Amino acid sequence: PIITWRDANGSKTSIEVDPGANLMRAAVAAGIDGIYGDCGGALACATCHVVPDAAWAERVGPAGVMEDEMLDMVEGQRMPTSRLSCQLQARDDLEGLILDVPVAS
Ligand code: FES
Repeated sequence: PIITWRDANGSKTSIEVDPGANLMRAAVAAGIDGIYGDCGGALACATCHVVPDAAWAERVGPAGVMEDEMLDMVEGQRMPTSRLSCQLQARDDLEGLILDVPVAS
């Protein structure tokens, strides 16, 4: 699916990602600003924070229990639909997904 990351200025980067691919890794590989993935996806750094566009939040789904705790540590503003992108895999039904990357405060 094609996934789009949108920064605080509204500028977008869209990448074709293989189904099953980890969305933190895809963003880091593409050099998306604000996605660092410092812990390599171990739910230990919160540097992979994304906020799915409102139209997508339901399809992306809610954070897991451990993820929810780590979301309290994000640098940007946490939103009700915030996710840690190392916990997200590309799926065909996410074609066109837009992920906002909150600015670190
Ligand atoms: Fe560290 Fe997601 S990469 S919590």
